[in-house]
Amino acid sequence: MNQYTFCAPCLFGLEGLVGEEARRLGFENVTVEDRRVFFTGDEHTLAKANLCLRMAERVMVLMGRFPVKSFEDLYQGVKAIAWGDYIPKDGVFPVKGYSLGSALHSVPDCQAIVKKATVDRMSQTYGITWFPETGATYQIRFSIMKDLCEVFLDTSGVSLHKRGWRAVGNDAPIHETMAAAMVNLSRYRGREFFWDPFCGSGTIVIEAALAALNRAPGLDRSFGAEAWSTIAPNVWQEERTAAMDREYRGNYEILGSDIDPQSLNIAIANAKKAGVSKYISFREGDATKLSLPTDKGIIVCNPPYGERMGEQNEAKRLYRDLGKHLRYADGWKKYIISSEADFEHYFGTPATKKRKLYNGRLQCNVYMYY
Ligand SMILES: C[S@@+](CC[C@H](N)C(=O)[O-])C[C@H]1O[C@@H](n2cnc3c(N)ncnc32)[C@H](O)[C@@H]1O
Repeated sequence: MNQYTFCAPCLFGLEGLVGEEARRLGFENVTVEDRRVFFTGDEHTLAKANLCLRMAERVMVLMGRFPVKSFEDLYQGVKAIAWGDYIPKDGVFPVKGYSLGSALHSVPDCQAIVKKATVDRMSQTYGITWFPETGATYQIRFSIMKDLCEVFLDTSGVSLHKRGWRAVGNDAPIHETMAAAMVNLSRYRGREFFWDPFCGSGTIVIEAALAALNRAPGLDRSFGAEAWSTIAPNVWQEERTAAMDREYRGNYEILGSDIDPQSLNIAIANAKKAGVSKYISFREGDATKLSLPTDKGIIVCNPPYGERMGEQNEAKRLYRDLGKHLRYADGWKKYIISSEADFEHYFGTPATKKRKLYNGRLQCNVYMYY
C-alpha cells in the first residue's frame, strides 16, 4: 500500500466539522486550514474518504508543494513529480487550477505549463512523446496562493455533494454537504423527532436520515479513482462492505413539510431514490401555521432567503411569522440558516449561538436556538 497526503476542500465555515469527521473516520495526521482539511493514509483511506465524508466537496492526493515566482519554477516543480507512478500511458490528464495573490496570475498560461511539464515527465517514463488520452481520467488540479504552488490529483471526479440520489432539483436546493453540516450541528442522532418545515426538495431530511442510519453518503455513486489502474478494485469493494456493516437499523421520526406541493413531490422522489423514504414522512403546509407534530424535537431548515428586493421583504415577513409561531415551542431546538444579517431581529429572539458559513458565495449564519 502507498502512503498519501490527502486534501479535502470544503465550503467555507465547515472546515472544523470536516476535520472532526475525518478524525472520527480514523484518518491520521488531520490538520484543518481555511476551506480544506488534510490527512494521511493509504488506498483504503482514499476510498473510505470518498464514500463516507459527508461535508467535504472532494478528496485529492497532494502530489507536490513548492514556491513559484516564475513559469520556470512552475515547470520544474511539476516536472519533478513522478507522474508515471500514477498516470498510465493511456490516462486522460486534464488540468484545472487557480491563482490568487501570486506573481503567476494568468491561469490559462499556468494550466498550459502544468500540462507541458506533466507530458515531459511522462515522456521520460514511457519513452513516447504523444499520449492518446483514451483511458481513465486523472484530473490534475493546482492552486497557487501567495506564490506557493500545490499540485493535486483529484480522486472524486464529480463533486461529493452529488450523492447520486437527486432525481430533480427545485429552485434553490441547499448543497447536500451544507445540509449534512446543519444536521451535524444540530447533534441529531436519530433519537429525537426531526423536522424541516421548509423542506423543498428534501435535502435536509434526506441527510438527516442518512446520518441517523450512519449510511455512507457515497454508496450509490462512483468516483473518478475507481477507474484508476493503480488502485485494486477490491479496495473499493472492501470499503463499501465495511461502510454497510457500520450502518444502524432503527425507527426514526423525520418529517419534511413545505407549502408547495410540487416541491414535496420532488422531495418524495428524491427520498425514494436515496433509499430512505420509509424513514421520512412528508406533509403539505405553511410553516407559520402548521401545528407542531410533537412537543419536543429538532427543527433544521433553510427558509427562503429572498435574494431580490421584493422577495427580501417577503422573507422578513416570513421570519417574523415563523418567530411568532414558534415562540412557545420551547421543547424544540431550532437550527435555521439565513443570509439575512438581521434575522434574529425579525425572528424576535436572539440566537443561543450563531455560526458563520458560506452557502456557495452567499454569506450566511446558522442561527441556533437550544
Ligand atoms: C430555500 S427553499 C428550501 C430548499 C430545500 N432545503 C432543498 O434543499 O430543496 C425554501 C422552501 O420554502 C418553501 N416555503 C416558502 N414559504 C413557506 C411557508 N410559509 N411554509 C412552508 N414552506 C414554505 C418553498 O416552497 C421552498 O421549497
